[in-house]
Amino acid sequence: MDITNKYRSLTRGDGRVTGGGFPSDVDAGLSKAQKSISSKYLYDAEGDRLFQRIMELPEYYLTRCEYEILRDNRDKILTAVGDGPINLVELGAGDGKKTFLLLEHFLEKGLQFRYVPIDISEDAICGLVENCCDCYPDMAIEGLVAEYFSGIRWLADQNHKRNLVLFLGSNIGNFARADMDLFLRGLWDALNNGDLVLIGFDLKKDIQRIVDAYDDSQGVTAQFNINLLERINRELGGNFNVDQFDHHCTYNDQLGAIESYLVSREKQEVCIDSIGKTFSFEEKEPLHVEYSHKFSRDDIAGMSERTGFKIIEQFYDSESLFVDSLWQVVK
Ligand code: AVI
Repeated sequence: MDITNKYRSLTRGDGRVTGGGFPSDVDAGLSKAQKSISSKYLYDAEGDRLFQRIMELPEYYLTRCEYEILRDNRDKILTAVGDGPINLVELGAGDGKKTFLLLEHFLEKGLQFRYVPIDISEDAICGLVENCCDCYPDMAIEGLVAEYFSGIRWLADQNHKRNLVLFLGSNIGNFARADMDLFLRGLWDALNNGDLVLIGFDLKKDIQRIVDAYDDSQGVTAQFNINLLERINRELGGNFNVDQFDHHCTYNDQLGAIESYLVSREKQEVCIDSIGKTFSFEEKEPLHVEYSHKFSRDDIAGMSERTGFKIIEQFYDSESLFVDSLWQVVK
């Protein structure tokens, strides 16, 4: 099926995300005293594939919890939405599997909506749009290849319909704490009074349970992180010897976050052709690749208040490990 008219790209058209771009962000990140690269670069085609596997791991409870929440509460969500037509916007849609539960239900109940999945990965959007077109040929869909903020800016131009924005999977946890309010306030700005946002938050819980989810016994999360170095080799002409880096994750109690690192096994130098520089790593030097924040109920209430949203309802899984929180824009 030809899906070219079913999605558009807000990136520069060369597969790279907008903003500084991959090479300059890698250059800046590897030049810092405490090396770091944004977790958004974990998601190339191989990263997407590995993340699919993560979501199926026995230790990675987040996806299963959220699936249960959406399955059991889709009627309540539909009731909160009321009558269409609406834009059903999804930020960081990934493969959209969980969302299919909502799409199917909304279609069955005759809600008029246009599904607008937004993801920085063109592969993910193409795959998702194709899948949606196969499963729901009559559903209105417009995929967007974009970063969240460009997606939100695009949203601002779509203000002729009410919006339900899905921001699932605890994707918000991958921001630095300081950026979460900025992001939510940007979202509030782009939306209209009364619009709804359904946000997934992974809750604070037994620390070992959290650590196990990011340090799985099959080593898939390790491969997912190592793929970032392989991506630099593939796309930027790097010469990372990936066997000389270990995946390491630790729960930072102060931040309330898993922090994931790639740790250099030995003193080594890495040359990246398209940046035209060599970067030195000390033995045991960490490269920070991801925050995965965890939230208390107070964290969630505080964030919604500070950024202009009212909490309408909270949907928990049966073990209360995860919550999908339904917020309304108040202007
Ligand atoms: C996408 N995001 C919410 C995942 C998380 O749990 O932080 C990414 C991930 N990284 C390692 N495992 C999963």
